[in-house]
Amino acid sequence: MSPNFEKSFYVTTPIYYVNDVPHIGHAYTTVAADIIARYKRLEGYEVFFLTGTDEHGQKVEKAAQERGVDPKTHCDQMVVRFQSLWKRLNISNNDFIRTTEIRHKKVVQKILQDLYDRGEIYQENYDGWYCIPCERFWTEKDLEEGKCPDCLRSVNEISEKNYFFRMSHYQSWLIEYIETNERFIFPPSRKNEILGFLRGSLEDLCISRPKKRLRWGIEIPFDPDYVTYVWFDALINYVTGIGYGSEKNPFSQFWPEAIHLIGKDILTTHTVYWPTMLKGIGLTPPKMVFAHGWWTIEGKKMSKSLQNVVEPNRLIDTYGVDAVRYFLVREVPFGMDGDFSHSAMVHRINSDLANDLGNLFSRALSMVVKYFDGLIPTPSQLQEVDRGLQEVSEKALLQLSKQMNDLAFHKALGSIWEIVSAGNKYIDETAPWALAKAEKDRPRLGTVLYQTLESLRLTALLLAAFMPSTSEKMWVQLGMEEPLWEQNLKESGKWGGLKPGRKV
Ligand code: MSP
Repeated sequence: MSPNFEKSFYVTTPIYYVNDVPHIGHAYTTVAADIIARYKRLEGYEVFFLTGTDEHGQKVEKAAQERGVDPKTHCDQMVVRFQSLWKRLNISNNDFIRTTEIRHKKVVQKILQDLYDRGEIYQENYDGWYCIPCERFWTEKDLEEGKCPDCLRSVNEISEKNYFFRMSHYQSWLIEYIETNERFIFPPSRKNEILGFLRGSLEDLCISRPKKRLRWGIEIPFDPDYVTYVWFDALINYVTGIGYGSEKNPFSQFWPEAIHLIGKDILTTHTVYWPTMLKGIGLTPPKMVFAHGWWTIEGKKMSKSLQNVVEPNRLIDTYGVDAVRYFLVREVPFGMDGDFSHSAMVHRINSDLANDLGNLFSRALSMVVKYFDGLIPTPSQLQEVDRGLQEVSEKALLQLSKQMNDLAFHKALGSIWEIVSAGNKYIDETAPWALAKAEKDRPRLGTVLYQTLESLRLTALLLAAFMPSTSEKMWVQLGMEEPLWEQNLKESGKWGGLKPGRKV
């Protein structure tokens, strides 16, 4: 890999608890990460996109026990569900990390030892509460009516000797870091939430569990009676994945150019624990942590007990991969909560995809087949209306780059649909079917169809990150022989890339 530091981009998803059946929430973050990864590649960046599974901790150990298998076998069986779903969803991750891999264990132990040697870790009695579903420690004052403040389920009392990371030391540094690095926590409302949290006093972080209570974890290198707390282990995946600590690695190319996409429920671990852990070992925090909202299902919280868990595999069976990808990021602004319903999904598919885009594309192609034997015509003298379509496309391209930088996917799709709408309007105004009636209008007919197809070529290019297989089909049908994924937006985004004479 040739280092090109200006043009490196690193995006991650949370690593998912291997126990869960992958649901719409998991698919959401992973699709969003895939879209930004694909888009940045088209912008010419060298991209590293990491996803994976979180495989240690009490939850996994318990589930394995209940099934009567050892935890590693359990994980090996479960992880396939994520890996095969990502294949079906066309996810272009560069690597898939599992926290039970040796490479990860080594990095976690290296970091623990490093912090221990620097005096950042000490041992003390821990009296508090633990929530197994969230795998989180809580103090008495955190609890809400005796329950976990995050998920409101019951917690277990713990009283034992444990190891602690001196997180409290970093409180004022962290506040200043968040305040001076505007885009570290995004969207801004989440930044305020964390600054609010940091107004209270920040405690040290319990980072171990005695083996006599939990065996399923990474052994603490300086005390074989303990394993590592699962969140401390999990967060480190983001540096393991790009080879931290090993020679010949892309780590220095991609760190700290990282964007972590997460759900709003795991904001504290990513914007308080993680940056202080990094600071402790002398590393800079990631460039951005973006917290998205949560999906409810037909107005209700998604839960196993309500039996309303939306499984992406079923959605793909019904609607197709690209429609699912499109819906997830078009329906709700990234960062806000949203509601899933089949009627909303059907509505989006019918109006945006079938009506606006699908119709335009098939109308334009069939006219080229009918009037020009399927050969792309050569445009001649442009009129104002032709230039208008071109201007709309050029404007959309400009807007898109900023919108994608802000991860405003729904706005970016809005910009692309401005081209689609302009294309529909253009075809109605120029009425190519009427031009086809007189031989003298043939040059004009050629121009109109060329302009329409060219706007569709640009649409396919800009839509590629969102709907990869649809875009690729469009691209090929437009006679584009140069592979879509080798394009650079700067070059191929210029008006006029469609080749006259090629067969559609
Ligand atoms: N293993 C941890 C993450 C460790 S990252 C170092 C974890 N895993 S999880 O599988 O429980 O959750 C993964 C992601 O799914 C979280 O970002 C969470 O916000 C997201 N979602 C879970 N339910 C969701 C919805 N209903 N809607 C949208 N996202 C949701 O937490």
